[in-house]
Amino acid sequence: MEAFRLSSPSDHRQTLHGSVRVGGAKNSALKLMAAALLAPGRTTITNLPNILDVDVMARLLEELGCTVEMDHGEERVSIDVPDDLSHHAPYRLVRRLRASISVLGPLVARCGKAEVSLPGGDNIGSRGLDMHIRGLRDLGAEVDIEHGYVVATVPTRLRGAELVLQFPSVGATENLLMAATLAEGTTVIENAALEPEIVDLCGMLVAMGADIDGVGSSTLVVRGVESMRPVTHATITDRIVSGTWAFAVAIAGGDLTVEGGVAGHLDIVLDKLAGAGARLDVSDQGFRVRVDRRLDAFDVVTLPYPGFPTDLQPFAMALAAVSDGTAMITENVFEARFMFAQELARLGADVRTDGHHAVVRGKPMLSGADVVAHDIRAGAALVLAGLAAEGRTTVADSFHIDRGYPGFVESLRSLGVDIQRVQLPDMDDL
Ligand code: UD1
Repeated sequence: MEAFRLSSPSDHRQTLHGSVRVGGAKNSALKLMAAALLAPGRTTITNLPNILDVDVMARLLEELGCTVEMDHGEERVSIDVPDDLSHHAPYRLVRRLRASISVLGPLVARCGKAEVSLPGGDNIGSRGLDMHIRGLRDLGAEVDIEHGYVVATVPTRLRGAELVLQFPSVGATENLLMAATLAEGTTVIENAALEPEIVDLCGMLVAMGADIDGVGSSTLVVRGVESMRPVTHATITDRIVSGTWAFAVAIAGGDLTVEGGVAGHLDIVLDKLAGAGARLDVSDQGFRVRVDRRLDAFDVVTLPYPGFPTDLQPFAMALAAVSDGTAMITENVFEARFMFAQELARLGADVRTDGHHAVVRGKPMLSGADVVAHDIRAGAALVLAGLAAEGRTTVADSFHIDRGYPGFVESLRSLGVDIQRVQLPDMDDL
């Protein structure tokens, strides 16, 4: 089993100096790859992150009948989509990648039939699919859960409808948007999610020939078209990875330039860090964060975009653990993300949770320990907490971190951190 191991001095944090380049967004790239299914022919996605999830999505597209040429060196994938697609997304792939559910909308729209496995449990809670299913039913599909699969069929063609989401779900907005592009008539999606990844997806769909109004707003109006064409599309920069680096320097101190980071996608986050004592310089090429003292504690409430992103909440908690003062963290999107608090406590953090609130009392330093990554963000946040933890910190199950952060260890080393990948024969060796 691979783990990340870092060692920090006893009396000060491992400051970060230099610059990192941030690539394409995982949460965009996976959906852009699924969107390729909407048009027969060869679609190319560029600025593709070199992560395992992208490879799993490529395998799923192959399973559906596509020919996929992956070029991680050039950060691109070409997807040849046949006229006749298979409509079966099997459990063995879907369970490895929850975002596989985003093939549901395109498959129903293209094939009139889709069988997509339910993803099963993951480590950040039982994420529902009720809004995806209800929306597809409103678009005229028959949808049932059979033998662990979402089975959707449409007698002829999907038909436009007025859809009102109970919550601005990212996944449901994307699935329904993609399905609606090929429906007959107009679909209105009210209370749509506003995340930059959705704007990115809309950009690609419009280039493919979709007719969408209200891009970037909470009301999307989609006038269905008969067919779409393949395109070449560049993925937006990963705002969560960019935000992770901002938190890295906030926790550890130092001077870090995040090349490619789009500050406008992180308004609330960067504003909070600046308010706490970080110095920020923003340019068209990215942003620079300088931290030369222990930051002041600040409260965080996670909300759909443009609110504070749930994916950055573990980093806010890790920062609060070493900030000056007490912070209240409220998780409104994925409650189970607080599992992370238990691991952070192993590093000596003073954190108490109650329902979806956590109270964190900051300390000058944490204390290195053996911990386990339960998901991508929690894992990366534990590594960053380790920068402010005296002694040795080993983060097991580091494969989770590789799923979201290409070259994380290597980037940290280039910034001066004493960190390596180590092999542990099994958990009992921690
Ligand atoms: C996406 C991101 C994830 C991010 C999240 C919120 C990907 C691959 N993942 O996940 O990193 O944390 O957005 O920004 O893009 N829900 C329902 N019923 C539904 C759909 C969602 O109850 O039909 C609930 C979920 O259980 C969750 C909340 O709504 O509590 C948010 O889910 P959603 O916005 O759909 O997130 P994902 O698309 O799964």
